[in-house]
Amino acid sequence: MKRMICLVCILCGLATTMQARQRRNFDADWLFILADSAQMSKPEYNDRHWRRLNLPHDWAIEGDFSAGNPSGAGGGALPGGVGWYRKHFRIREVARYFLEFDGIYMNSTVYINGEKLGSRPYGYSSFEFEITRFLRTGDNVIAVRVDNSDQPNSRWYSGCGIYRHVWFTETSAVHVSHWGVHVETTAKGKAKVTVDVNGRGQVQNTLYDKNGAAIDVATGRKSTLKVPGSQLRLWSPQNPYTYKIRTRVLVDGKVVDEVWTTTAFRDFRFDAKTGFWLNGKNMKINGVCEHHDLGCLGAALNDDALHRKLVKLKQMGCNAIRTSHNPPAPELLNMCDTMGFIVMDESFDMWRRRKTQNDYARFFDEWHERDLRDLVLRDRNHPCILMWSIGNEVLEQWSSADADTLTLEQANLILNAGHDASTLARDGETSVNTMLCEHLADIVRRYDTTRPVTAGCNEPSPDNHLFKGSGLDIVGFNYHHEWIKDVPKNFPDRPFIMTESVSALQTTGNYIMPSDQIIKAPKEWWLPYTDPSFMCSAYDNMHASWSTTHEQNWDVVKNTPYCGGQFIWTGFDYIGEPTPYGFPARSSYFGIIDLSGQPKDVYYMYQSEWTDKPVLHLFPHWNWLEGQDIDLWCYYNHADEVELFVNGRSQGVRRKSSSFVPASAVTPYHVSWRVKYEPGEVKVVARKGGNVVGLKTLRTAGQPDHLRLTIDYSGYQQNSKSTSASHLTFVKVEVVDRDGNLCPWAENQVFFESVGARIVGVDNGSQFSMERFKDTKRKAFFGRCMVVLDGRGTLTAKSIGLKTTTIEL
Ligand code: GAL
Repeated sequence: MKRMICLVCILCGLATTMQARQRRNFDADWLFILADSAQMSKPEYNDRHWRRLNLPHDWAIEGDFSAGNPSGAGGGALPGGVGWYRKHFRIREVARYFLEFDGIYMNSTVYINGEKLGSRPYGYSSFEFEITRFLRTGDNVIAVRVDNSDQPNSRWYSGCGIYRHVWFTETSAVHVSHWGVHVETTAKGKAKVTVDVNGRGQVQNTLYDKNGAAIDVATGRKSTLKVPGSQLRLWSPQNPYTYKIRTRVLVDGKVVDEVWTTTAFRDFRFDAKTGFWLNGKNMKINGVCEHHDLGCLGAALNDDALHRKLVKLKQMGCNAIRTSHNPPAPELLNMCDTMGFIVMDESFDMWRRRKTQNDYARFFDEWHERDLRDLVLRDRNHPCILMWSIGNEVLEQWSSADADTLTLEQANLILNAGHDASTLARDGETSVNTMLCEHLADIVRRYDTTRPVTAGCNEPSPDNHLFKGSGLDIVGFNYHHEWIKDVPKNFPDRPFIMTESVSALQTTGNYIMPSDQIIKAPKEWWLPYTDPSFMCSAYDNMHASWSTTHEQNWDVVKNTPYCGGQFIWTGFDYIGEPTPYGFPARSSYFGIIDLSGQPKDVYYMYQSEWTDKPVLHLFPHWNWLEGQDIDLWCYYNHADEVELFVNGRSQGVRRKSSSFVPASAVTPYHVSWRVKYEPGEVKVVARKGGNVVGLKTLRTAGQPDHLRLTIDYSGYQQNSKSTSASHLTFVKVEVVDRDGNLCPWAENQVFFESVGARIVGVDNGSQFSMERFKDTKRKAFFGRCMVVLDGRGTLTAKSIGLKTTTIEL
């Protein structure tokens, strides 16, 4: 009854609202310089000549690729250095002021009006300072020094600068403390809310459903809200139903603070025999690992670019993301909550033992507790997170393993090659490394007991120091698919997931034939791999020496009931780590989708397996040398068989096989034909029960004639949740013949102009192009490129010898 009365009061608006919290985005109008002087922290410093920009910002992506950049090809071969940001602002009279940074890469030091607020070495942590006592009427100035000069410090492209959002929060004297709301939900519709308030005040929580209807209200710093059984809707990737909790703090009946938290109810568990269960259903985690960069936009966070990535992954049937190997942007988690992605939230790529010369290992002893705690405190309310990972392939898995004396490329290789038994834990021994693992897991459990802890290990033996003791709830290992059959024997009664898998190598548009050979690149981890093309194969027939093709790994995951699923390395190509090559290769080949956002062919294999959408994907293109032997592959579903025709002549009917044999022309996941090329048309017909259910035709393209512009993603149309006034549009550019067939060998230089919008990036998916990402021109790569624009207007694309095309954004 008390509850009911309260609910009625709230709905009638009886509580009066004072000036409560204001959390403002603080990204606009910063000043920037790529230079360093201690004077730059001083309020009176003359910054008038500095560049004016809006955050998030990544200065490295604006630079040129060079073998001389100390990040190396592994870090993307883009510049580092020391940069400063300053921002002038005025305040209005309230009680308390806070400045919050979602992420600065790296080694940032923040000053306000010349006073040092603090430093934060780890470039992926979020942090807040209270700045009340430093503020004054009139001009205030924030100065931030960002030091990414000690390189290499990352095995992938990190970006440089204030690359995530900044927030300015004003509150009353009595307010909810930073990350001060903690919500724990049950599958039965209960939400336990604990609120940490600074000062004396009454707390009132109200639970709202997705339509904004108030469902329950409760008072007190610890309280429980409940959704009645009949109204309860559970969260899942298919139906990511979220609720909201409004937390109010009242003093003398007046609302002095208000904070909103997204929450959801779901029931999940990992079972040692049957794998992963969500809301009573057994399912696979079909996940991908993702680094944080956004292709040609670099590390600078952009909601539309991030949303576009998730839309493409969702359409493929992906249902989970591993935030490899660091705390993600808060926006990623917000989107995963509402779009329906399960998240494995990961903290570190190294602990005390470094992988690159200047990486986080040098800060680990002093900072790990704070960084790990902050990750959990910041993220634990997100319903999408179902696992914490305390590390990736840390060298503490072995008692004596070194990688820091090696080059980045060698380190990567050795990490995956395994170590001899003498470096593993002995029976009965609790080693220092095991204790360190337990210590980190305990930090997580101190702040969240509702999710299991795991780590991405690459030593699959049960004598791995991390698998000993009580640290890891879920046994997680990377690669080593051949060890999966032994998991029940090696880890009796412990649940298992492939924390990382596959690492296949592909370049969009480049088909290495014959396709029924598997190319390991390099053949063994200690051998170099060279190919002057700097390309990999677009068929699923090439992978790193420690890994598998996509099909091979999926076959194991799909057919192993106790395997909860996998996180494929990776969803998108990313900048840096261009295995198997070195410079001038500068971005990865591992993605299912290339850096420009173009799905590689294998995307459709997953779509055919992971979704109900009808798939019929025939490749490669049909422009070859007369008489050349060409392997045509087809991914399909919802059909019994497919038949191929070249210029009307049947090349035979194919059906997928029932069991998987690597390097076969026909597997349970694709079929193929080897045919002699002749110009014209190649067509595949899909049949079910004798009826034609699908048809796909590829035609030989003639001479390049014009440019086709297609909107690949429009933030204006597709990102309805974003409140931002200006949006990004990604435009796909294709060189086509008179009839609109893609010219697959075209390399035309394409020039872009826009009226109204700003061109913010260009790309073509090539992993070794030395062209700048910030430009108004790009060469086509296998007939395609891509341009990103900010704002409304028109885009015109021109190329010598081709007809010009204009499109409305
Ligand atoms: C893994 C590692 C990833 C990436 C990948 C490349 O061992 O966890 O970060 O380096 O190899 O195959």
